[in-house]
Amino acid sequence: MADSFKTHLDKQLDAIRESGMYKAERIIAGPQGTEITLEDGSHVLNFCANNYLGLANHAVMRESAHKAIDDYGYGLSSVRFICGTQTVHRELEKRLADFVKMEDAILLASCFDANAGLFEALLTAEDAIISDRLNHASLIDGIRLCKAKRFRYENNDMNDLEKQCQAARDAGARYIMIVTDGVFSMDGIIANLKGVCDIAERFDAMTVVDDSHATGFVGTHGRGTPEHCGVEGRIDILTSTLGKALGGASGGFVAASKTVVDMLKQKSRPYLFSNAVAPPIAAASLAGLTWVEKADVERERLQDNHKRFRAGMRDAGFDCPKGDHAIVPVMFYEEVLASNMAKQLTQEGVYVTAFTYPVVPKGTARIRVQLSAAHTAEQIDQVIKAFSAAKASLDGES
Ligand SMILES: Cc1ncc(COP(=O)(O)O)c(C=O)c1O
Repeated sequence: MADSFKTHLDKQLDAIRESGMYKAERIIAGPQGTEITLEDGSHVLNFCANNYLGLANHAVMRESAHKAIDDYGYGLSSVRFICGTQTVHRELEKRLADFVKMEDAILLASCFDANAGLFEALLTAEDAIISDRLNHASLIDGIRLCKAKRFRYENNDMNDLEKQCQAARDAGARYIMIVTDGVFSMDGIIANLKGVCDIAERFDAMTVVDDSHATGFVGTHGRGTPEHCGVEGRIDILTSTLGKALGGASGGFVAASKTVVDMLKQKSRPYLFSNAVAPPIAAASLAGLTWVEKADVERERLQDNHKRFRAGMRDAGFDCPKGDHAIVPVMFYEEVLASNMAKQLTQEGVYVTAFTYPVVPKGTARIRVQLSAAHTAEQIDQVIKAFSAAKASLDGES
């Protein structure tokens, strides 16, 4: 590497460190869970995983993954359409589609891939995409890869969405696609899908929802934000991940009509040019899905848990915006303060992460706490106390 280029990168890295926005990789030395072991052997309470239903290290997942290695082998050494599709992949696609009440589904290595390959495969420069300003990076990147005209509306703002639909119509768009996260992952806010669907109908637009932070636990039966918002059957395309509530390993999918799924199998580049999901993950996801379908008790416990945390944190004087989701942002606004709080919380035995720019807008730094159905009430109360202790300790230093 040229010395000048290395110096150029080193300077940028120093600037990131000084701004408090440096993301250090933190290493855990055991399985995922509500209590984890760190590299130095210490044990901490974990409140920042997307392990919403507690499946990541559940016996159901471990046992089915072990068995799948015997039944299907370890890996496929192939993309899906060459020689990488096993019965278990197709079965999982059908079960995922049934679960979210769509005709069919296509399985990919991640939801990032699902979103990256979606738009370019379906739309051209004659079309328009209207995207929520706070959509996930994978949707933003997928939209960038497509030649359709781009419009952006303010977060969850239905007046602005309507304006942008009109602008797309005025620009002569052939097909219009409205794209939103089901849950905005930095804030834990559920999208107004009823509003989105009503506007989509008026403008004859299609709807795409990324339900990564909802599939399995939002909605009475865990079918996600369309169920929660009462719009099942009105969403055209739903993308989601197997890497959160549905088991936590990896994998993503797009669920839609048979025609859309068929087209994605012809054209989605991450599907055509990347390896099949490993058989133990596909098989364990199937077992996980059966478990999730019956997980009413866990879904209810998760609700109780995030309500308990929010109420306790507010009583302790922390700034937690209103919400109805297992993601609870604790706002600190200043990047350095949020980072120092997260570090201090590790000292207090709690594992959480500060989110700073560019993951969230500048000046809105926060610690994003995520509750799981596997957390106990005692663990939640312990974490609230740890936040107060960490704050007192930082206040004492300043
Ligand atoms: C809303 C949203 N979409 C997509 C993804 C990507 O999912 P995966 O980890 O399966 O690539 C994430 C994960 O962070 C997400 O939060």
